Amino acid sequence: MAINFSETLRKIANRPSGCETTPKSETGKTLPYRGAAQGNHVPEPVRDGVSVSDAAKKMEEARPGEDNTGIYRQAAALARGLLGRDLREKENDIHELSALLNKMIGFLRRGGEDIIAATFEGAVGNEDYLASHSVNTCVYSIIMGLARGYDDESMEALALSALFHDVGMVYYMDLVNKPRRLVPAECEEIKQHTTKGFELLRLAGDILPKEAPYAALGHHERADGTGYPNGAESGAIDEITSIVGLADVYEAMSHSRGYRAGLAPYNAVKEIISCKSSYEYALLKILIERIGMFPPGSIVKLNNNRVAEVIKLNSQNPTRPVVRMLYDSDGRAIRRPELLDLASNFGTYILSGDC
Ligand SMILES: [Fe+2]
Ligand SMILES: [Fe+2]
Repeated sequence: MAINFSETLRKIANRPSGCETTPKSETGKTLPYRGAAQGNHVPEPVRDGVSVSDAAKKMEEARPGEDNTGIYRQAAALARGLLGRDLREKENDIHELSALLNKMIGFLRRGGEDIIAATFEGAVGNEDYLASHSVNTCVYSIIMGLARGYDDESMEALALSALFHDVGMVYYMDLVNKPRRLVPAECEEIKQHTTKGFELLRLAGDILPKEAPYAALGHHERADGTGYPNGAESGAIDEITSIVGLADVYEAMSHSRGYRAGLAPYNAVKEIISCKSSYEYALLKILIERIGMFPPGSIVKLNNNRVAEVIKLNSQNPTRPVVRMLYDSDGRAIRRPELLDLASNFGTYILSGDC
């Protein structure tokens, strides 16, 4: 049966609340992405000299010639050096990072599918958890800020706040890097990264936006008061902090850690929806429409038993993106470029997003 987006939204409005905020992703599977598909010797489409469909044109729009993922990798490399304790001594690097993030905002404003896909491909190395998690959270936050219509100044404040939201983790990297689930006492200890991050960013003064310390302090707060460190509720959490908090939990659920596999994005969204009272409805809707269920690079199974890669989102109907066929119904690799816009082919639909 097709995944029904209207039903998903109805569930957002009607599901009971009161669940814990900790991701339950250890039961999930890692979704294969474009890199994994290439590992299976599925060739990239050859576009030159090939008559392309409307869907293919959409693909070209989504992937302009410039290397957008280079910006992503540069931001991650800078973040790696910046996420530390002496931010006042790194003012020049912060300005450089800010300029990179502004470029990234421009790419994401025009779609930025390559950047979204890069966030799922381990492009900066899975071993570098804090840098990759911070940049990924930043990318998802930017997309939500753009959907909210933020102006340039607010976008910069949001992007930097997201990038530094977990800076307090630098005190707890020995715990973060343990290859096992933390015991309750360790979980309590690591929660202090919020207050530690607040202190670090306050010390940085005006080289970072004034919103950044509050995002570091409040990104684990939840709209229903179930978060930490203060159990603040919806009206007491500013929107930048709420955006960073939602981007953070989506990133955490949909990516692997040393002790567990990441959930497929579709399943991460389902987990988040099951705690719908913890998040602002408007932001949850944006997450689903602009990033969440089948982000670019996702491998999906169609109702005709073909396997395809998501190329371009459809925010009007997130269950019907543009896809590129990878395998036919007999499991044979499809070598010619074959693209399908599910928004205009209603007989074909996504059967599952975690194949
Ligand atoms: Fe955090
Ligand atoms: Fe985080």
